[in-house]
Amino acid sequence: MIIQVPATSANLGPGFDSCGVAVSRYLTIEVKEQQEAWYIEHQLGENIPTDETNLLLTTVRKICPSLQPHRLIMKSEIPLARGLGSSSSVIVAGIELANQLGKLKLDNQMKLELATAIEGHPDNVAPAILGDFVVSAYFPERTTRSVLSVKQSFPTCGVIAYIPKEELLTKTSRNVLPEAFPFKEAVEASAIANVMVAAIVAGDLALAGEMMTADRWHEPYRDVLVPHLKKLKQNCLAWGAYACFLSGAGPTVLILTPVEQTDTIIEKLNKMSNNEAEIIPLTIDRRGIKVSE
Ligand code: HSE
Repeated sequence: MIIQVPATSANLGPGFDSCGVAVSRYLTIEVKEQQEAWYIEHQLGENIPTDETNLLLTTVRKICPSLQPHRLIMKSEIPLARGLGSSSSVIVAGIELANQLGKLKLDNQMKLELATAIEGHPDNVAPAILGDFVVSAYFPERTTRSVLSVKQSFPTCGVIAYIPKEELLTKTSRNVLPEAFPFKEAVEASAIANVMVAAIVAGDLALAGEMMTADRWHEPYRDVLVPHLKKLKQNCLAWGAYACFLSGAGPTVLILTPVEQTDTIIEKLNKMSNNEAEIIPLTIDRRGIKVSE
């Protein structure tokens, strides 16, 4: 059995901790034979455990502690600590692995609630499970229906990821956010997010992009950690992109473009980046978790 989970880009500017989109980079878990202890074969580096302390297996054991261990092969195209949902993809894969091996018959809502409780917010795990663009609200105090979410089709466009070489931990990136926010500013920030979501649903990427690029919740505070963001915004918008925003907690920046301009903008980004970032075209993943034999 093979379980595949897509990378995700959270926030899309003003949809902080709520909006996310699945993109075409994947975590793959191949389930091999049963054995006495869990073992994960991977080539992801020495810092990633191969035993039960791996996030994949802590998740599996949380969901279904009695499972018979297996040998697993883990492959990931999702760079770590870059804002593309690498840990969410592992949590979601762990839940699906427990679901399949334990024959738990979890539906998407149950998977979403379990994954969000582990991750702390639903914006990455929801599109990793469901695919495409998902808007969610999390109510941690509820025991059932703690995550309410709606999946929508994201309009067709070019998607470019500008992935800096340096990692940025989500924890570090959340530590620069304010504890409180004046009511008037929150009303403005929320209005920007509302228009963004409505414009995506209406298929108006020009307006959606304008709102994505005008976030007030988190990007202004994270600027200090992601100095490349300001210049990317200026340049990409001047080159005709719809939007340019921090992917999740960063440091990756996502750029949405009219399809016919994607190649030209990638070329310009490559010239600008001086080899300090990997610049890759992506597509929207419409499916989310995929299980195959
Ligand atoms: N919404 C989260 C953040 C995504 O921006 O911190 C990263 O986990």
